[in-house]
Amino acid sequence: MKVTYYGHACILIEINDQRLIFDPFIEDNPLAEKVDIQHIEADYILLSHGHQDHVADVEKIYANTKAKVIATHEVAMWFNKRGVDNIHPMNHGGKVTFDWGIVKMVNAIHSSSLPDGSYGGNPAGFVVESGEHAFYFSGDTALHQDMKQIAEEFNLTFAILPIGDNYTMGIDDALKAASYVGVNKVVGVHFDTFPAIKIDKEKSLMKAGDKNIELVLLNIGDTTVI
Ligand code: NI
Ligand code: MN
Repeated sequence: MKVTYYGHACILIEINDQRLIFDPFIEDNPLAEKVDIQHIEADYILLSHGHQDHVADVEKIYANTKAKVIATHEVAMWFNKRGVDNIHPMNHGGKVTFDWGIVKMVNAIHSSSLPDGSYGGNPAGFVVESGEHAFYFSGDTALHQDMKQIAEEFNLTFAILPIGDNYTMGIDDALKAASYVGVNKVVGVHFDTFPAIKIDKEKSLMKAGDKNIELVLLNIGDTTVI
């Protein structure tokens, strides 16, 4: 799998020729000013919840790609009313099978409203499985026990978890989450974008190392293969 980081919680995963972009927030993120949104290609846009810092660039990316938007019913329908025709509304516990793999919507503990204040349903995370690979994108969330169910059902290669604290898990809870879902590799997101979520990267990497977890902190715009 190829993993590209576009800043904040925005990640592009290439898995078996499918390009999945999660939670696009690029043009309003000064840290991501080098990323050219016009050149992003995607087959799917997956949204964990309706907050601005997760959905700001959906329409721009959709305009160029017509990628299918996968989100909770409320978030998907909100975008549908704004002209996004290619949507796949889901809800928690639901699984959809595509010809290349499956997407399951799983629980998250957070909140969710759309940028205009509309109700955004409940926040979610996703598990994506394709061939031998599977990964978990938790979305903005607190640590919670339901994560253990993911390890019962899937054999994950890695997890994408928030580590910035304040609005989501911090590094200590994220490392517990990694053990709950059964991974020893974590791509950290949702840090440094705002003053309240600035982290000490070295300290986070050391804490992960102490728990034998590989914490991957990508520079914005960088790609790695996992
Ligand atoms: Ni949020
Ligand atoms: Mn957020």
